[in-house]
Amino acid sequence: MIKVENLTKTYADFKALDGVSFEVQKGEIIGFLGPNGAGKTTTMRILTGFFPPTSGKVEIDGFDVFNDPVEVRKRIGYLPENTPLYQDMEVYSFLRYIAELKDVEPEKKNQHIKNIMERCGISHMKNEIISRLSKGYKQRVGLAQALIGDPKVLILDEPTIGLDPKQIIEIRNLIKELGKEKTIILSTHILPEVAVTCSRVIIINEGKIVAEDTPDNLENKVSGVAKVIVTVRGGSPDLIKTRLQGINGVSNVTVIKNHAGLTDLSIQSEKDVDVRDKVSSIIVQNNWGLIEMHRETLGLEEIFLKLTKKEK
Ligand SMILES: Nc1ncnc2c1ncn2[C@@H]1O[C@H](COP(=O)(O)OP(=O)(O)O)[C@@H](O)[C@H]1O
Ligand SMILES: [Mg+2]
Repeated sequence: MIKVENLTKTYADFKALDGVSFEVQKGEIIGFLGPNGAGKTTTMRILTGFFPPTSGKVEIDGFDVFNDPVEVRKRIGYLPENTPLYQDMEVYSFLRYIAELKDVEPEKKNQHIKNIMERCGISHMKNEIISRLSKGYKQRVGLAQALIGDPKVLILDEPTIGLDPKQIIEIRNLIKELGKEKTIILSTHILPEVAVTCSRVIIINEGKIVAEDTPDNLENKVSGVAKVIVTVRGGSPDLIKTRLQGINGVSNVTVIKNHAGLTDLSIQSEKDVDVRDKVSSIIVQNNWGLIEMHRETLGLEEIFLKLTKKEK
């Protein structure tokens, strides 16, 4: 759906993007993750045709952004950084205005806007002046604006920046919901964002892509070990530890805690080795109870720091 080839962007003599290439398949929600100044906004502006790259190529749904800008714009909904809304307009009039700009068929316009307002949870705010809305509602209006014309692709530049925790959860859920039918790229400099919302993460730093994978895999790749946490009922911590340590591929087992007959253990294995099947069968064979098992998902923060430092 989106194909980006070897983008570079130079501002005066500063290279903001340096050979950025990636592809996004239909239906993916991609997290574009990087610290401030990494080049996220620059990439998104090129993708939406806001300005051209210094070199390189972008295709959206088979159309070249610079040869077919009209076709491309029909397919993209864009939520720019800092949501520039017409602050003096009422929500509904603003959305009508955007619908006119986007050439939505006049007889379908009202129903279309109504559906979108419903979806974004702003129907009850339709007659409010935008400047009087909370930041969370403004962001919803921004998303609603991006949805007008029913584009296949959504490009969202830091959609949760400046929101409070409750608003962040609401916007994330809305994005996830939209991801069921749209292809989405969202940028963020906040890690939990991608872990929660995205199927794939592209990490960018100083204008270059430094990593690209699922949130889970990225973690394993960089940390070099995979970690599984289990809670076992019954048995003695020492015996459980010894049995689990005997599993092929397991490099280390640590008892985290033992209380009320339950033992929490951390099982490390080499990366790319999934020991979960063997762990569960050993526990069952010993007549212990497998109360809980999950892969350790903390540490995305460390990965991010490692990846973005390595480049310096
Ligand atoms: N119009 C501009 N003129 C000069 N430098 C710019 C301009 N826009 C962005 N930059 C620089 O390019 C780099 C990437 O910026 P940007 O794409 O906004 O990063 P991000 O969105 O990841 O924070 C930054 O170092 C920024 O200072
Ligand atoms: Mg930015």
